[in-house]
Amino acid sequence: MDALIERAREVLAAAHVPYSEYRVGAALRTADGELFTGCNIENANYSNSLHAEEVAIGTAVAAGHQEFDRLAVSSGVRDGVTPCGMCRQTLAEFCGDDFTIICDCGDDGVATYTLGELLPETISASTLTDADDHERPGSAGEAGASDTRNQHD
Ligand code: THU
Ligand code: ZN
Repeated sequence: MDALIERAREVLAAAHVPYSEYRVGAALRTADGELFTGCNIENANYSNSLHAEEVAIGTAVAAGHQEFDRLAVSSGVRDGVTPCGMCRQTLAEFCGDDFTIICDCGDDGVATYTLGELLPETISASTLTDADDHERPGSAGEAGASDTRNQHD
């Protein structure tokens, strides 16, 4: 059994899921080998619910870590759940395309992905800095310049 999956399974017990009854656990290993776990924490207003991956990343970042090695995710039904789109983007803030994500498929089965597979063409800090190089409509320069967003060379 993968040690990281084991930790993701252990933290399932702490999940607060009175609404969906769908438990999720996440275990994140930092570049220097520390482990942080998180579980989903639902809320009566639904939209405030925290995802297991968010809790794990938030806890690790609050402890001073910003470099990560891999993430394991498990659900109570061991269905191979993957991080949702929001959690993929949260991971992309700190992790590159080659970051490994392993998902619990039950028994000793795992599905392994890279973040780049799960979230290609992500927005990142460089998206914002590169935007400075693009002309914007209404900015000084050519009047009526067309919007260059979403165009590729
Ligand atoms: N959930 C997570 O914890 N992580 C994900 O990325 C997918 C969804 C939780 C949120 C909610 O508590 C439950 O799973 C059902 O969506
Ligand atoms: Zn999520």
